Amino acid sequence: MLTTGCLIVLLTVGSYAILPLPHYIKACVTTDATFVECALQHGNEAIPYIVKGDRSYKIMKMDPMNIAEIQVRNGPRQAGLFLTMRDLELHGLKNAVLLKSDFNFDKRHFSHNFQVPLVRLTGKYSVSGKVLLLPIFGNGDMNVTMVNNTLSYSYDWDLKQMGDYRHMILKNSKAEIKPSRAFIHLSNLFDGDKLLGNQINGFLTENWQELFRDIGPTVAGAISEAVTSVVNGISKEVPYDDIFPASLP
Ligand SMILES: *[C@@H]1O[C@H](CO)[C@@H](O)[C@H](O)[C@H]1NC(C)=O
Ligand SMILES: *[C@@H]1O[C@H](CO)[C@@H](O)[C@H](O)[C@H]1NC(C)=O
Repeated sequence: MLTTGCLIVLLTVGSYAILPLPHYIKACVTTDATFVECALQHGNEAIPYIVKGDRSYKIMKMDPMNIAEIQVRNGPRQAGLFLTMRDLELHGLKNAVLLKSDFNFDKRHFSHNFQVPLVRLTGKYSVSGKVLLLPIFGNGDMNVTMVNNTLSYSYDWDLKQMGDYRHMILKNSKAEIKPSRAFIHLSNLFDGDKLLGNQINGFLTENWQELFRDIGPTVAGAISEAVTSVVNGISKEVPYDDIFPASLP
């Protein structure tokens, strides 16, 4: 009995179950002259499905996407702004358009550039400190609207033999997001003083680039993590040679 149990465990550990590509991702033949165009087209066709998440490939939902917290620490300690955003939802990645992909198979480095028309970040905030030399305080609902975003995502990868197949293993993934403009709205500033609240929201929006120095990397980090879960989720289950076939069967 015991021996059979051990044998079964060993067999399960020793062989890797593989999956085909998800039905919404179509492979392109890497040796074709049109490989890059094909990948761009198939990539764009897959986006609406990918953002919904897929348990079979351990792909997390990306629209909306949850972000636990973003901290903005702006200005010197005594006269600065301390803004904490919590329980955030990021909306809008479902409308991402893949504009350009670079596949360097020799250096094992891929990069992708997207345009995202509108990204909206909603959640709770609390703020204290000073803005325009005025004391600022408040907590409540917030939203940040980011217009016309360029989003880049890149990564390196290794190949690892797992059982009978080669699999891609990701490393050094990076993302960056840059809006052309962002609007910031904190509701219920100064315990609901509308006049003062509007004035400060106007000021924050005018100076969105300063705030975005802190917000941008956290948002990009969350997106990078999510996109990495997609690539990793698929490449762990699907052999490299099925994702990037040198010829079609
Ligand atoms: C987002 O902010 C705008 C002001 O820029 C406000 O009118 C709107 O109600 C807010 N939306 C949400 C969902 O909080
Ligand atoms: C959108 O962003 C791109 C890239 O940053 C820029 O070239 C373009 O002018 C922007 N369009 C608008 C309407 O802001």
